[in-house]
Amino acid sequence: MTKYIGILTSGGDSPGLNAAIRGVGKAALNHFGMQIIGFRDGFRGLMENRTMRLDGGELSDILTRGGTILGTSRDKPHRMPVGGKLLDMTDVIVGNYHDNHLDALVCLGGGGTQKNALRLKENGLNVITLPKTIDNDVAQTDITFGFDTALGIATDAIDRLHSTAHSHHRIIVVEIMGHRAGWLTLGAGIAGGADVILIPEIPYDIASVAEAIRERSRRGKPFSIVAVAEGAISKQEHDALHAAQKHKAASKVKGHKKPETEEVAETQYAEKTVRLAKQLELLTGLESRITILGHLQRGGIPSAADRLLATRLGTACADLIDKGHYGVMVAARGDGTKAVKLEDVAGNVKTVPADHPWILSARHVGTNMGD
Ligand code: F6P
Repeated sequence: MTKYIGILTSGGDSPGLNAAIRGVGKAALNHFGMQIIGFRDGFRGLMENRTMRLDGGELSDILTRGGTILGTSRDKPHRMPVGGKLLDMTDVIVGNYHDNHLDALVCLGGGGTQKNALRLKENGLNVITLPKTIDNDVAQTDITFGFDTALGIATDAIDRLHSTAHSHHRIIVVEIMGHRAGWLTLGAGIAGGADVILIPEIPYDIASVAEAIRERSRRGKPFSIVAVAEGAISKQEHDALHAAQKHKAASKVKGHKKPETEEVAETQYAEKTVRLAKQLELLTGLESRITILGHLQRGGIPSAADRLLATRLGTACADLIDKGHYGVMVAARGDGTKAVKLEDVAGNVKTVPADHPWILSARHVGTNMGD
């Protein structure tokens, strides 16, 4: 019996998404004799039944394309913006799944998508997910596609920022994506030789950072590169947030309201980064400038490593569908893959452990980690 697959991309765009769509699609069509249709713009397109053919050459020439040919959104099945309200459209989605005679739905996305996919599994759909995000913060997988490309972009940016730092004897604060986990900032900070690396997992002491920068000046290096993750916060902010959360008044803590949308968060991050740069300028006497890398880190041609990873995961996904193995995420494990139950992925963020080897390496080459 020919199997019919639906595929969608959800959450932030990421390098490698098209490589993954190609991997699932070509394996399904050419190797397993299945049929596949795309749904546009994430779960919204599935709710509105907006589809895209994927069997007529649409899978050619997309391996090296950034973004996603299907489009994406951050819309959630159970809290879908409809007519100015947030409505539970799960039943409509389940209906469209059956009306399209699907045997399986493939969802490519990050942490939020894994949770949404689990909800659809609980509503009886055969779902399989692939781990996508430049943040690399999806649990149970060695790595997510998008991370390697973003790592290269952020590292190249840090390399370039060294020019103005040493020429003008400046502190350059470069904000790197990653609001829940510091993998991208830590990796690019090490690869780019940042002098300070600030990640969400280690609330920083501004006095420690300033002293590290002053010490560099005393040793004849009157310039520093500070790589700061979007989600990095100071010890003071961390303590205030926890105190407020303890009293369940988190939303009253100035500057730490849970952002309604990523756009709101992005503004908050920038304000924090500007504030950090100004504080360091005052504490060290060195001029400071900021660079916010933003969506540059998600743009352009995926790296070879991301294309390889996305293809591996995509073809493994088609193989699981052929075997009728649903309700799982295709996790990267070494050179292979592992089907991990969605229940073990959804809601779990993979953050950087305090004793992670990368952190030890950074400290051993003299990087200040804010503590
Ligand atoms: O989740 C990936 C990510 O790039 C985060 O690093 C970043 O904070 C967020 O998406 C930005 O979201 P948006 O593209 O909706 O502004």
